Amino acid sequence: MIATTQQNMTTELDLGSSDGPPRNWKGIGIALVVIMAVMSLVILSVVLLTPDERHLLLRSHLTMEDLESPEFKVHDPCVSWLSESEVALCTREGHVLSFSLSSNLTTTLLDNSSLDLTVTKFQVSADKRFILLAYNIQPVFSQSFTASFAIYNVANGDQLELNPPEREKAALQYASWGPQGNQLAYVFNGDIYYMQSVTSKALRLTSTDQEPRVVNGLSDWTYEEEVLLTYVAHWWSMDGARLAYLTINNSATPVMEIPHFLGGIYPTNMVFSYPKAGSNIPSVTLFVVNLYGPAHTLEMLPPDSFRARDSYISMVTWISSTRLAVRWLNRVQNQSVLCVCEATTGACSEKHKMAMDIMQNRRQVRL
Ligand SMILES: *[C@@H]1O[C@H](CO)[C@@H](O)[C@H](O)[C@H]1NC(C)=O
Ligand SMILES: *[C@@H]1O[C@H](CO)[C@@H](O)[C@H](O)[C@H]1NC(C)=O
Ligand SMILES: *[C@@H]1O[C@H](CO)[C@@H](O)[C@H](O)[C@H]1NC(C)=O
Ligand SMILES: *[C@@H]1O[C@H](CO)[C@@H](O)[C@H](O)[C@H]1NC(C)=O
Repeated sequence: MIATTQQNMTTELDLGSSDGPPRNWKGIGIALVVIMAVMSLVILSVVLLTPDERHLLLRSHLTMEDLESPEFKVHDPCVSWLSESEVALCTREGHVLSFSLSSNLTTTLLDNSSLDLTVTKFQVSADKRFILLAYNIQPVFSQSFTASFAIYNVANGDQLELNPPEREKAALQYASWGPQGNQLAYVFNGDIYYMQSVTSKALRLTSTDQEPRVVNGLSDWTYEEEVLLTYVAHWWSMDGARLAYLTINNSATPVMEIPHFLGGIYPTNMVFSYPKAGSNIPSVTLFVVNLYGPAHTLEMLPPDSFRARDSYISMVTWISSTRLAVRWLNRVQNQSVLCVCEATTGACSEKHKMAMDIMQNRRQVRL
């Protein structure tokens, strides 16, 4: 029954289509021409308006080497103050200049033709007569490094290697100018050396080189990464007559070993003192040495409550030519004492004491 009905309907539809009005071939033709014209216009405009990118294909792709190239490097002008109104800086081309803010004058101290500065650090002496250059820089922790140092003479372009007495090609742990003339201090094998001027003989200020885990004037791992947050742990008085420095002794601190997988088939181990909760922490002492006249060293004595107890020195700063502000911190780090120390006697007087409820601040690292 259903099948019959469907058959009938189909028959009727077929009949209807063959009976329709004659097709308007002209109209269809015009419509087609219009469609073609519009389409070709679209194609033409796409072709005309697409930028020519063939030259981009000819260029090479970005590579890792490109990222190392100067074009992609951020330029660090390494600006430092030379005096109240003068700064030293390095340009992108590698010149070292001094710039006077009062007279608006620029002077070239070191031309890029004499040295390639891209792999070096530099520091200009207070009298602007010499430039200390660090090269062969080998990083240690986040800021620390060892390097070879040379002294460049601005007047005649001479270069002089900086080496400890009776040593050649020594890798120093640090070197820097003092605030006066061209006085200089450097650290080699954990000991501090002082030179009154570039031409004078180096004077050894400390001698703990028999104890490899004692360092003078520089931070160990703990002080560099968690206490002072700087590598330098010595401070010149403003007149250059005294140098304050920390002696950090890790003889009783346990060590950490970190394998280095760099070069060679087997890793090498980097060993350094690393205190953990409950273990010994580095012991620290603050000294001040007189630089003018015979070297004379005095210990700055911690306040009574900190003697014979584990503690840190978390700040040292000169407040006059003979006085220092020093902060001692107990091991738990819930008590700190700010003292003023007399560099001439070693006596420190408490100026401000702070205690903190440890439960309210759990940022302490090495309980
Ligand atoms: C040195 O500086 C000049 C411009 O003062 C520059 O053209 C040249 O490329 C620089 N040389 C180096 C090695 O950077
Ligand atoms: C400093 O010198 C620069 C160019 O050498 C100039 O553009 C600027 O105006 C000067 N500034 C002053 C304060 O004289
Ligand atoms: C370093 O500490 C050890 C004990 O931990 C001590 O025997 C040694 O004398 C100290 N060295 C210095 C230079 O203070
Ligand atoms: C510091 O912490 C220690 C250990 O938790 C506690 O015994 C001491 O009372 C605290 N001192 C201060 C001043 O809060």
